[in-house]
Amino acid sequence: MNIVVSRTVAELRGHLDLECDAGRTVGLVPTMGALHGGHASLVARAVARCDVVVTSIFINPRQFGAGEDLGSYPKMLDDDLELLASLGCRHAWIPSPGEMYPDGYCTRVEMDGLTDVLCGVSRPAHFGGVLTVVLKLFHQVKPDVAFFGQKDYQQSLLIRRMVQDLEVPVCIEVCPIVREPDGLAMSSRNRYLSPEERDQASVLNRALGVVEDAWRGGERDAARLMALGHLVAAESPLVRIDYLEIRDAETLTLREGEARVGDLVAVAAFVGQARLIDNRHFTES
Ligand code: PAF
Repeated sequence: MNIVVSRTVAELRGHLDLECDAGRTVGLVPTMGALHGGHASLVARAVARCDVVVTSIFINPRQFGAGEDLGSYPKMLDDDLELLASLGCRHAWIPSPGEMYPDGYCTRVEMDGLTDVLCGVSRPAHFGGVLTVVLKLFHQVKPDVAFFGQKDYQQSLLIRRMVQDLEVPVCIEVCPIVREPDGLAMSSRNRYLSPEERDQASVLNRALGVVEDAWRGGERDAARLMALGHLVAAESPLVRIDYLEIRDAETLTLREGEARVGDLVAVAAFVGQARLIDNRHFTES
């Protein structure tokens, strides 16, 4: 199937208005490109659930802080378009920075509280930039359903919150993490890793696994559970933990005392040039 590429809002709406007029449901998969198996699973899910799928590819400058990887973020558009077409994605929405943020653009979505913890500590402007561009994408594409990955748990929680608070008429579906054979969560930023860093990065999944195993074995003390995770991560000297925490999955309050079913165990770490994240939830054993 050929993929239709739009580079301006006018082009995009020209195509999507026809789809809407024909009564087709629209699914949106927002991405920054450099697509991997995790993105592919979102697109496959969108294709299964919606009549037409739009994948946006936009490296959003407003979600990168000073000294982050905006300039070096991987770009592989031809490969991305080939993959999307093979998955049955009908439309690629590829705006330029100037199309997304024309001269004079000065509006930003802000959220209190939920953006100040976990990744928000190391990346203070990040989530404001994410919410701003995602809200713009929702207005441009007008999707019935939008698909996000569970790896970016905090991002998906904030988007769900924004959609509820601002009454945006879109259904949010969060899809499971896709992992490499050694358990490392797939990420466009894994490409930055040297072979040695790549080898050690799998400790993140192992650390979460040890915390989960201890939970399943009956350990409930949140501080002890977190300490176990840190102990495992410390085995890999190239991995510098930013946080490894247990938090309430809805309020993101740090869990003190007893961990509970549903709690989020989240980790972020610097590995060479990459900042990687991963998470899981405690389930009933
Ligand atoms: O998760 C991402 O790739 C980005 O944060 C998103 C949602 C595409 C917004 O730029």
